[in-house]
Amino acid sequence: MNIQRVGVVGAGTMGNGIAHVFARGGFHVVLCDVEQRFLDRALGMIAKNLDREVSKNKITADDKASALARIRPATDRGQLSDCDFVIEAATEKFDIKTEIFRDLDRVTRPEIILASNTSSISITKLAALTKRPEKVIGMHFFNPVPVMKLVEVIRGLATSQETFTVVRDLSVKLEKTPVEVNDAPGFVSNRVLMPLLNEAMYTVMEGVATAEAVDEVFKLGMNHPMGPLTLADFIGLDVCLDIMRVLQNGLGDPKYRPCPLLIKMVDAGWLGRKSGRGFYTY
Ligand code: 3HC
Repeated sequence: MNIQRVGVVGAGTMGNGIAHVFARGGFHVVLCDVEQRFLDRALGMIAKNLDREVSKNKITADDKASALARIRPATDRGQLSDCDFVIEAATEKFDIKTEIFRDLDRVTRPEIILASNTSSISITKLAALTKRPEKVIGMHFFNPVPVMKLVEVIRGLATSQETFTVVRDLSVKLEKTPVEVNDAPGFVSNRVLMPLLNEAMYTVMEGVATAEAVDEVFKLGMNHPMGPLTLADFIGLDVCLDIMRVLQNGLGDPKYRPCPLLIKMVDAGWLGRKSGRGFYTY
């Protein structure tokens, strides 16, 4: 399959990072979101992150300009009709993804692969919303997308070997390392990571230690680049809560109960770095 034009649905933190790596990798990108202001913000972020790579001599200023020129912003999903591959990176809510996958199935060519960057929602369920379940797959990137090497490639029950091979090879073209995983709540990454972050929140809630102390334990004791509460703020507390709920509902074990402090902070609009306040103030 010759993939030249890639659609990215959702221009948030993950979507703009995904658009960044595809454009830098030489692909034409249609970046789609519901409002122009989300697209403007995403293009600003991509330009800023490409600048970091220019200043580190990883790419030239010309590379940056041509990568940006390859991104076409769009508020109308009809613009995805000429794409050879589409990846969805919208909010981590099943209802929102349902609407998007039904629409993508309608507006894109029937032979193209539809991938999801979902961090925990069932690929099998997303695939079942379409008339091409064998062409639906998980392609899960990590934040910050331009830096993190991993792509978790998730096979739904119906995903074909051909679809898997295309997405694995595509990940390598983006200079990422694909790791094959089967469909299960949270896959591997978030099934293991989120309970760690959630438990770190319990220690803060119960007064076992401050957020700073918990983070120091993990940075100095386990060599983590960020402590779990800094990481939770970085990922977004709303995203952490959504993923814990997917684990709780999908696996049914009380050990996946979201920490009440996490729920309270999300209710307060303290979503971490992106809202200016989470376990830390930004
Ligand atoms: N775009 C491009 N480059 C970026 C960047 C961005 N958004 N953010 C950082 N960088 C680059 C910097 O330019 C720098 O490049 P260099 O190595 O060539 O100098 C490099 O990344 C390191 O950045 P900094 O020196 O500014 O900062 P740190 O050394 O503190 O590293 C970090 C920053 C890479 C974010 C590091 O703290 C880290 O690895 N944190 C953990 C991140 C993590 O665990 N991510 C996974 C989250 S889970 C997830 O995404 C799954 C989802 O489903 C929830």
